[in-house]
Amino acid sequence: MDFKKQIIKLRAEKNAIILAHYYQVPEIQDIADFVGDSLGLAQQASKANADMIVFAGVHFMAETAKILNPDKLVVLPDLEAGCSLADSCPPDRFRDFLKLYSDHTVISYINCSAAIKTMSDIICTSGNAVQLVESFPKDQKIVFAPDKNLGAYINNITGRNMVLWDGTCEVHDILSSEAIIKLKSYNPDALLIAHPECKAQVLALADFIGSTTALLNFTKASNAKKFIVATETGILHQMKRTSPDKIFMIVPSDETCNCNDCPYMKLNTLEKLYLALKNEKPSIELPQDVILKAKKPILKMLELSVQLGLIK
Ligand code: 13P
Ligand code: SF4
Repeated sequence: MDFKKQIIKLRAEKNAIILAHYYQVPEIQDIADFVGDSLGLAQQASKANADMIVFAGVHFMAETAKILNPDKLVVLPDLEAGCSLADSCPPDRFRDFLKLYSDHTVISYINCSAAIKTMSDIICTSGNAVQLVESFPKDQKIVFAPDKNLGAYINNITGRNMVLWDGTCEVHDILSSEAIIKLKSYNPDALLIAHPECKAQVLALADFIGSTTALLNFTKASNAKKFIVATETGILHQMKRTSPDKIFMIVPSDETCNCNDCPYMKLNTLEKLYLALKNEKPSIELPQDVILKAKKPILKMLELSVQLGLIK
């Protein structure tokens, strides 16, 4: 079956939109109505006027789309597409943790479950985290969850001392500075660009640090011809498309391959996307009270991001 053709037909018939993260396989990125990072996707979801949102990403992203569109049908091609970072912050443990910091503002990275969002004052993404933290007074006590690498990076560049939840992304946390130093030694003219979910040792070597969209924009604007990319493989599709004359090398996650794939993102396939659109499932369902509570910190993030000129 020609899944691409069928998806295009069903999308029109059902007035659906397809939102895809940069870590999706190329054929999904190519068919999507919008491809972006977590911030761009949250923004697109907030202004979607389709009847159905097919979210080609992971569960917390589709949940965010549902929270912003409770009356719309939101489907995820594979319900098993979770996230190690979101899983590293179980709601019961986080609730107990927050009891120790009752006078703290809670800033949560969007890579967390809806339940964690209900316990948060504001959500952030890697595309706005530094600016949102900086928008709070310097002496504001803050708990930052769930990514300790991103939290430590923000503490480092803002001089803050946020309390960090001990969570990581298994894809970024595994990238080793040794592998990068080796790659650099063979390619001294290459710039290292890294996602802030990487460890501090990796970020210390980076020429540029940013969200997936920021990394893509950096490669477009830079005069450099070679880049060592410390994030998930999926972004290379757009980097190669927008800068076909440049060379991109992914930091491998182990010795056996030149890849660094998120196993959750890569569960989605064109066939599963077609089936989700056709069968209108698996759909994301959340209790009404969770939607109401989780929506507030997400909207706060979007409003503040507009005020700060980070999004339009
Ligand atoms: P961004 O989309 O904010 O760059 O985050 C990357 C990521 O790990 C998404 O799961
Ligand atoms: Fe989660 Fe990491 Fe995969 Fe992003 S790349 S979905 S943070 S496990």
